[in-house]
Parts: sequence; structure tokens; C-alpha cells
Amino acid sequence: MNVLVIGAGGREHALAYKLNQSNLVKQVFVIPGNEAMTPIAEVHTEISESDHQGILDFAKQQNVDWVVIGPEQPLIDGLADILRANGFKVFGPNKQAAQIEGSKLFAKKIMEKYNIPTADYKEVERKKDALTYIENCEFPVVVKKDGLAAGKGVIIADTIEAARSAIEIMYGDEEEDTVVFETFLEGEEFSLMTFVNGELAVPFDCIAQDHKRAFDHDEGPNTGGMGAYCPVPHISDDVLKLTNETIAQPIAKAMLNEGYQFFGVLYIGAILTKDGPKVIEFNARFGDPEAQVLLSRMESDLMQHIIDLDEGKRTEFKWKNEAIVGVMLASKGYPDAYEKGHKVSGFDLNENYFVSGLKKQGDTFVTSGGRVILAIGKGDNVHDAQRDAYEKVSQIQSDHLFYRHDIANKALQLK
Ligand code: AMP
Ligand code: GLY
Repeated sequence: MNVLVIGAGGREHALAYKLNQSNLVKQVFVIPGNEAMTPIAEVHTEISESDHQGILDFAKQQNVDWVVIGPEQPLIDGLADILRANGFKVFGPNKQAAQIEGSKLFAKKIMEKYNIPTADYKEVERKKDALTYIENCEFPVVVKKDGLAAGKGVIIADTIEAARSAIEIMYGDEEEDTVVFETFLEGEEFSLMTFVNGELAVPFDCIAQDHKRAFDHDEGPNTGGMGAYCPVPHISDDVLKLTNETIAQPIAKAMLNEGYQFFGVLYIGAILTKDGPKVIEFNARFGDPEAQVLLSRMESDLMQHIIDLDEGKRTEFKWKNEAIVGVMLASKGYPDAYEKGHKVSGFDLNENYFVSGLKKQGDTFVTSGGRVILAIGKGDNVHDAQRDAYEKVSQIQSDHLFYRHDIANKALQLK
């Protein structure tokens, strides 16, 4: 079977790596991919992820059997629809169903209608209404822009002054735009990937935990994710069961009921509050860097799971009896402005590193993005996996990267 992965980052690197291990898969192609993927896949950086016609032509030429779409943008832009309309099998939701990630308001409304636990919210369309709302709301308040923002469209404001400045940032010079205020949920965050085909929802029986803030001790701005680990020993199987019952199953049914045919991974981003798990966000795709740690731990065949799901089977995931910790090295300055073109060396092109922001310049790799490379550690438990991950980090040579020193500390009861 020939499989085409769409996307350029570490998540797609892990998808290509995992798919390449499948006995069902003959050849993995990646568009656009990055040069670190060349040992496991045929990489086509000359085609862009937004070039839907180019992707379609390529899939036809190479007799591709399945297309696996990694990132949200092509899903929201309808790449899955175009490929399906031309007879290709696609792992990833169509444009309509991808709204569950593309619009916070869409997600909020469907959760409200079907009583899926989430933070209370208030939608405003005008800056002046936003400013009025914060006069009487409780703090902290969470301010979110509708639409995609790569994990960076959320500000948690502790005071009315902070909320005012958040509104300034969200609206800029505009008077009208959709902004959502949410009550602040307190508790631990976790991510649960769920395979969904219509009303069939099969969650991974392995939770991952991301680290969204840029700096140690959850300080600094929100990012796409600075590191992740799995399993999460202090979040029990009961929580997983409850998340399945109160979130995964009802949202799959709700989507279908509302006329949205979701096929792919639904990412449930939740907070474990004292009243149980509540949704912070849904994504229409694998998390990054959650995918890298989860797929490293997955024992069973990803391609087989995708085929099972397509056939409406309740597929059974199997996991290695080990813990995985991934530590992200990012360009200094990320998630704000950062420089590109700095040399990075010391890593091998194997399953110990998943690359998101590097490109080849002559014989060396140089930075080309904000998040650059995820070092993967493995061990019998989270403690050993963490040590292994930081050892892999220490092998990387670069003056222009930074990373968090506390990835997975929550599992070890460390600050
Ligand atoms: P989102 O883009 O919606 O995932 O939000 C980014 C991050 O902001 C989340 O991972 C949380 O850390 C935080 N966040 C978002 N919504 C809430 C909320 N209602 N309560 C507490 N934290 C939140
Ligand atoms: N790591 C969070 C995300 O992929 O949205």
C-alpha cells in the first residue's frame, strides 16, 4: 500500500515513521515533509501543503492508496474533500467536520446543545461589548479569538487590566470580530486522541500530557506545545473511562446528529476539574507533540487501525510496556519572533528525534521554524524516560535553541 502523509512537522515525522513500520505499507510519501524524514519516506518539499491540485496530481501519479493529513489548516481548507471526491481514501475529516477545531464557537455551541462538559462561555462580536463584559465578569477570565491561532490565540487574564489588554491584542484596530470569553477551569490538563468514524468513537487507552507554556513551571506565553509524555500515571483509568463516556462518545454522536461526518482523529483537550473532566478544546487531528510520544509508545499497527476504523470496527490499540517523554527544542524567541538559519547538529536521523523546524543547507541542518526538534526518551517508567530524554537533549548542539527543564515533572510529583 502507498501512503501519502501531508504536513511538514514533527507530528508528520512520527506518522511517517510509524506508517513505515507497518507490514501493510510499501511506500510512505510526505508532502511537503522535511529532509530529516528521508530515511523513512520519499519527501516532496517542492509541493506545498496548500497546493491541493498539486497534491491530487501527485496522489494520482504515485498510485497512492491512503492520504493521512497531519495539520489542521489543510483539513479546514477542505483538502480531504477534494481527495475523497477523486476516489482517494483519506484519514482526516472533511471541511465541515473540521470546524470543530476551526471555530471555537462551533465547538462551544455543539457542546452546549449536547451537554458535553466544558467551561461556561460568552460570545461577543464587538470590541465595545467585550469591554463591557469584563466590567462584571469573574477573574481569571479566559479570552479566546475565534478561528485558528496555532495554540496562541488564548489569553488568561487575572485582572481587569489584563483583560483589557487581551481585548486590545485580539481586536487590534478592528471594532468587530468574534471573541469568546470562558470561565477559568482549574485542574490538570490532559490530551486524549480518539479515532472517530461517524458515531463510532474509539479513544486511545493511553492519555498524554502536553506542556503548552513556553517556560519552566508553566510560565510564559502559550505555545503549540513544548513537550509531552505518556502514559500519565497520576491520571487514572477511571478518568479515561469518564472522558470516554461524557465526552468522546457524546461528541461523536452529536457531530453525526448535526450532519457532520467526522473521520479521523479527534483530539480531546481536557482539564480534570473537581467536577470531572471538562473540554478546553477539540482538534481535528493528532496533537503535536502528543503524536510523537503516543506513536512511539504504540505497539500495534497504525495503518491497521486506520483500516479498521474505515470498516467501522472497534479497533484495539496495543501499547509498549514503557513510558515515553518528548522534550521540544525551540528557536530562542518562540512563540514570538525568532531567527532562522542557525546550525543544529548532534542528533541522529532515527526514532530518537522528531524534526519540525529544520532544513538542509549543504551538508548541515539549519533552523527553519519555531519548534525545531523533539528529543524522545524511553524507559520502564516516566522517571527513566525523562532522564533518557534530557540525555538526548544534551547531545544536540546549537546556540540558538531553548527548552523546558521540567517536562513530565507532574508525573513525578516534582515542581
Ligand atoms: P486552547 O487554544 O483553547 O487549547 O487554549 C490554550 C491553552 O489555554 C490551554 O491548553 C489551557 O492551558 C488554557 N486554557 C484554555 N481555556 C481554558 C479554560 N477555560 N480554563 C483554563 N485554562 C484554559
Ligand atoms: N499540542 C497541542 C496541539 O497539538 O494542539
